[in-house]
Amino acid sequence: MIQALFSPLRIGAFELSHRMVMAPLTRMRASQPGNVPHALNVEYYRQRASQGGLIVTEGAQISPSGQGMPATPGIHSQAQIEGWRGVTQAVHDKGGLIFLQLWHVGRVSHSSLHGGERPVAPSAIAAPGHAFTATFERAPFETPRALETAEIASVVADYAQAARNAQQAGFDGVEIHGANGYLLEQFLQSRSNRRTDAYGGSIENRSRIVLEVAAAVSDVFGADRVGIRLSPFGVANGSGEEEPLPLYRDLIEQLALQNLAYLHLVEPRASGAGQADVDHQNVPFASELFRPHWPNALIAAGNYTPSTAAAAIETGRADAVAFGRLFIANPDLPERTRQGSVLNPYDRATFYGGGAEGYIDYPALGASAYRARGTPARPTSV
Ligand SMILES: Cc1cc2nc3c(=O)[nH]c(=O)nc-3n(C[C@H](O)[C@H](O)[C@H](O)COP(=O)(O)O)c2cc1C
Repeated sequence: MIQALFSPLRIGAFELSHRMVMAPLTRMRASQPGNVPHALNVEYYRQRASQGGLIVTEGAQISPSGQGMPATPGIHSQAQIEGWRGVTQAVHDKGGLIFLQLWHVGRVSHSSLHGGERPVAPSAIAAPGHAFTATFERAPFETPRALETAEIASVVADYAQAARNAQQAGFDGVEIHGANGYLLEQFLQSRSNRRTDAYGGSIENRSRIVLEVAAAVSDVFGADRVGIRLSPFGVANGSGEEEPLPLYRDLIEQLALQNLAYLHLVEPRASGAGQADVDHQNVPFASELFRPHWPNALIAAGNYTPSTAAAAIETGRADAVAFGRLFIANPDLPERTRQGSVLNPYDRATFYGGGAEGYIDYPALGASAYRARGTPARPTSV
């Protein structure tokens, strides 16, 4: 049954040799100043690359105003392009594929990251909860500034420029981050979008920027090297559409017309984008609901284990499954799964920020036993 994870799969322009994708994972460890990927990040991705396997990077801000947390890497400066080139080379040297996740956080940010300017968003509505400030402190989200209609074209142009930069950095493709309560989802969902121009109101209007970004990025890379991530039932960062089905059905059908390489759906089983260890039961499978509306490759993510992932693939709900927390703790997750070996547990305290600890010190098979912050490893079984 686990074998279902190890059959080849065509995704857009690429042939994967297995179906265990590394999910996008923000780790807040870019070098400062400048939010530049560096040797530590190269080693982290190198460890997690596998022959014919696909990695989707952590979200990378497409512009300075797209940043929402300190030490997240960007893809808007020459130094960042050079830094990412080290990452793509290391992954390619191991025979792996790597897509960059293009990220604009919108209102999920803090003015300390923008020289005192308020974050921008579709409407001037603050997200509930707390931001990470530039100095890694927590502060309530501020009321953002609503983007002027004329500014939206420049945000779309920033996505296109970021895609060109990603190409220069050697990425195989890009994933548009349309999930988890960030800028594009803020436009999609009525509770964060009260605009009265062509980018607000009807489903068609709320979807407009997403379709424009998908087209602009596809013009750069070719649609067969572009994926998009959506979380139709997501509740992260104050999102939550009351009636997600009509909105997302229509959006997914429109995206299908652009023939993107893949659709990446976050399942509602994972709470707040993996921010808590809750496994929500009795919730729908986004992959099952939207599969009939999407003709190309479908990647599902959210609280999957190798065995539930294999089942999702066998039933046809998904073509591949992305793993987040398990990939943090298991650099060689596909190989461990293939061999049926135990998995390292993850250490949530070291998810965000810091250095090598909890980042590049999880052992691969055969390495000495992992000791998380001085405590003995508690292996979990596949
Ligand atoms: C530390 C951490 C950072 C994350 N960063 C991102 C991100 O940058 N972009 C994104 O789309 N999702 C992000 N997510 C969500 C994961 O990609 C994934 O959807 C979630 O963890 C559920 O999958 P899992 O149960 O396999 O961990 C993050 C999750 C965690 C735990």
